[in-house]
Amino acid sequence: MSVPIKPGTGSAYARILGFGGYRPARVVTNEEICQNIDSSDEWIQARSGIVTRRWANDEETVQAMSVAAAGKALANSGVRADQIGAVIVSTVSHLYQTPAIATSIAEELGAKGAAAFDVSAACAGFCYGVGLADGMIRTGSAEHVIVIGVERLSDLTDHHDRSTAFLFADGAGAAVIGPSDEPSIGPVVWGSDGSQSGLISQEESWEQAFHTAGGAEWPHLRMEGNPVFRWAVWEMARVAEQALAVAGVSAADLDAFVPHQANMRITDAMVRALKLPETVRVARDIAHQGNTSAASIPLAIERMLESGEVKSGETALIIGFGAGLAYAAQVIRLP
Ligand SMILES: CC(C)(COP(=O)(O)OP(=O)(O)OC[C@H]1O[C@@H](n2cnc3c(N)ncnc32)[C@H](O)[C@@H]1OP(=O)(O)O)[C@@H](O)C(=O)NCCC(=O)NCCS
Repeated sequence: MSVPIKPGTGSAYARILGFGGYRPARVVTNEEICQNIDSSDEWIQARSGIVTRRWANDEETVQAMSVAAAGKALANSGVRADQIGAVIVSTVSHLYQTPAIATSIAEELGAKGAAAFDVSAACAGFCYGVGLADGMIRTGSAEHVIVIGVERLSDLTDHHDRSTAFLFADGAGAAVIGPSDEPSIGPVVWGSDGSQSGLISQEESWEQAFHTAGGAEWPHLRMEGNPVFRWAVWEMARVAEQALAVAGVSAADLDAFVPHQANMRITDAMVRALKLPETVRVARDIAHQGNTSAASIPLAIERMLESGEVKSGETALIIGFGAGLAYAAQVIRLP
């Protein structure tokens, strides 16, 4: 008979203990965007809800923004860096194939020796990371985990492409997740639809770009906005409903709804589709932050907590969706 393998045992439950964010200093107006594309402040505001966004400067690297956001999340959670057993970094804009940026971030944070890896799930990345961290804590793979969503999408955006130039932006958001006495993170509802992988993608591989133009052409992100918009509004409302159902929470029980900050009109359509009562506070960070992909949900929650719009102990539904197409959603208790 083969020797029994002992399974890992961790905390019965996990919870988010603190959020932190980093917003680059430079504010970019719609007027500035319109210097490169045929558009207007009115069109951009009406179609996306974006008034201003932030772009990183040379010093505001993926690592620097991540360390700043994670440092704030650690301070807000009361957890020391040396208690962190794993660092998960969700990003599509760390421009090295290897190594993962997570190892350098763990080192700089002082989470020496922690497991560290990157997740490529685009705008769903933060919720993927929360789902992973929840499982790791409950199986005993790590006692505390930092999940960071970070992007420098301004590096990957064609600033002359009118369907994306006004949308994408930069920033970092982080959450420290640890053991809990009571259930505080609902089951993740996640998935993908690879048949639509071409709707948001880098236009060429790095290899194709190198060979076709001697390395002179930079492969930018391309997006078919309209089908993405329809998918987000129709399919994601169903995923959000599933996340509520598996957590045993109704729309009326929610205090906050924090969807990925893709476009204000997508948020508005989801609020209507979910029939959220007016008492539910809805994240609208996109107005002054733009679409920061994996960073958008933790940044939006940080702003809501700091402004007092939401309070510790309240219940929120988070949902991320985007390139892949990939999506993930769960119900969380706010720290
Ligand atoms: C990008 C987006 C704002 C465009 O809005 P839209 O209503 O779908 O716009 P369309 O592409 O259908 O174009 C509508 C019209 O506006 C025009 N237009 C497109 N971009 C424009 C711009 N930047 N400025 C002015 N006009 C623009 C088009 O030419 C078209 O004109 P026409 O009617 O004369 O042909 C929208 O599709 C969107 O937000 N999609 C989802 C994006 C997203 O969230 N992506 C990330 C997911 S993580």
